[in-house]
Parts: sequence; C-alpha cells; structure tokens
Amino acid sequence: MARDSLTLRRPDDWHLHLRDGAMLKAVLPFTARVFGRAIVMPNLVPSVTRVSAAEAYRKRILKALPRGAQFKPLMTAYLTDATAPDEIERGFKSGVFAAAKLYPAHATTNSAFGVTDIARIDKVLERMARIGMPLLVHGEVTDPAVDVFDREAVFIERVLAPLLKRLPALKVVFEHATTRDAIEFVRAAGPNVAATITPHHLTISRNALFQGGLRPHMYCLPVAKREAHRLALRKAATSGEAKFFLGTDSAPHPIADKEKDCGCAGIFCAPAALEIYARVFDEENALDTLEAFASVNGPRFYGLPPNDERVTLKRKTWKVPAKVKVGADAVKPFLAGEELAWKLAR
Ligand code: DOR
Ligand code: ZN
Repeated sequence: MARDSLTLRRPDDWHLHLRDGAMLKAVLPFTARVFGRAIVMPNLVPSVTRVSAAEAYRKRILKALPRGAQFKPLMTAYLTDATAPDEIERGFKSGVFAAAKLYPAHATTNSAFGVTDIARIDKVLERMARIGMPLLVHGEVTDPAVDVFDREAVFIERVLAPLLKRLPALKVVFEHATTRDAIEFVRAAGPNVAATITPHHLTISRNALFQGGLRPHMYCLPVAKREAHRLALRKAATSGEAKFFLGTDSAPHPIADKEKDCGCAGIFCAPAALEIYARVFDEENALDTLEAFASVNGPRFYGLPPNDERVTLKRKTWKVPAKVKVGADAVKPFLAGEELAWKLAR
C-alpha cells in the first residue's frame, strides 16, 4: 500500500545561496520553514573572505528570520589567491567558518575573485587538512577549450584527483554533483570525501533547457547533463550511502536577470526543495532512505549531531508558487506552477 505520510528528523541544507538585503528577506523563510541548518555560500558582492565579514553576514541572516523561526546558518569562507591560512584557521576554530568554498575563478556567479590556480592556495589547503576543516568545491574547470558539459569530469581528473593524492586526509564535499563521473569518484574515495546533490539535478536532464524553446529558469552551473547522469545521481541519492547528502544549491536571481541576453546561472528551488526530493525518492521506491540523505549523512560528515526535531511530509497535492515577490521584482521558483504530491505538514 502506498504510504501517505512520512516523518523524519528535521533536515539540513548543506549548500544554499541566501544573498543579502531584500532578496535574503524574501527567500530565507522558505528555507527556515523546513531546514534546521544550512551551509550558506559566501559568493556575495563583495565576497565573504574574512571572519569579520562572515560574522556580520550571519547577523544579517538571523535578523532577516521570520519571528519564532529556529534556523542556524553555518557560514563559509570564500577562498581567493590571497587567503591567509591563519584567517581560515581562526574562523574555523572560533566556530564562525564551518567550511571554506573553492570557486575556480570565473566558473560561476560572483566567482571573479575565486582561485585562479589551486597551487596558489596550497598552504591554505594543507592547513585545512591538518585541522579537519571541510573544503567545499565547485567542481568545474574554466578552461574555455573544455566543453561546458565536460567541465566537471575534467575537474576531477585535472584538479581533484591530484589534490587528494597530495592531501589524502583533506575533507572534501563535491558540491552539486551532476555526473556519473563525480558519483563514481566520490564513491571510490575515502570517507573524507562526500557529495551534495540538488533537487533540480535529480529532476531534469539537459533536455529541459531546450524544451520547446530556451528555458532560462532551468539554467544553473554546473549545467544539467545527459539523462544517464541524472539516473546515476538518483541511484546515489537514494542509496542511503553516507557519502551522499542533501544540498539544494537554491540560487535565486530576479526574473529580469534570468530572462535576458546573458542571463544568470542559478535555480531557485527553496520553495519546494524537500517536497521535490520526496517525489524523487518516492518515484525510486526509496522513501525509507530519505531521512539518511536529508537529515543524517550531512551532519555526520560535518561532525555535528543530527537535529532532534521531526518534520512530517503528507501526500497532499499542492502547487509550487508561480512567483516570489522581491521588492518591485520577483523570483521564479523551480517547477513554478506545477503540482507536487508531497507537502510538508505545518
Ligand atoms: O547556478 C549557479 N548559481 N551555480 C553556482 O555555482 C552559483 C549560483 C549562484 O550564486 O547564483
Ligand atoms: Zn551553489
């Protein structure tokens, strides 16, 4: 008999873009209603490179929370060529930085100040390996000679595999894995290497970008890949394996910035993230492993206790909102206007 209710430990989001100002205020409630904690990406303008900047950003997030919301932002450091190992260690040891993020320079939104060559942050990475601080990677090379759809696989070969050879104990999260190559690499690596998987990469292949026309709201980086890759992601996410956990990569941009010549990369999935994961797990007959993926594997990797509270999903048809207003503009959620069969109970 099909199950119509599912109670799990309160989940966390291990990869999230909250932005700042009016956008932060508009998008934060969607995350805080579901998730107990979130790893907050540091790609603001200016980027969050210092402990003081992360503390100030954390304060702005807490201030933007709806009254009564229980939510803990976990802050990250944006690595640049100039990052000082001492600053990173100080942030980690004082509990401000939960991790540090590697954006290869120009790989994606607000990554212009990212790392131009991994060799330049050798000392930082050595220090992180020594103190057990997780490195979160945007795993794509930026070499224009490499096909966009191959950039993740080539990153593994050129950057990640050599890095882990050099620093085998470094804790690494391969963020928003989009390929079978990434899944296989993470699986074959030690327990210090894990991956997050987004709801949209579990749902769409690259065909969705071109369905009946050009679809800017299906565009994010790393871009969705072929169907065979999506199927590998679904197997990994629903496997229950400790290495794979939830990270939405919800990345809101105003509609005007998505629907233009040279539109921004980023999919705003927060309004229905957990419900979309539930749909995927249901389709894969794997609802029993949703709690491991959403609520247990992530905290275990980060060395944190899982949340004590519980959330309940009910089988109840509802529609993803068409738009979320932000000042005079709006953001369009992933699967806007579509019906979903699972809904978080209030
Ligand atoms: O699509 C993306 N959007 N990928 C990223 O890596 C960054 C993100 C953003 O900040 O908009
Ligand atoms: Zn991201």
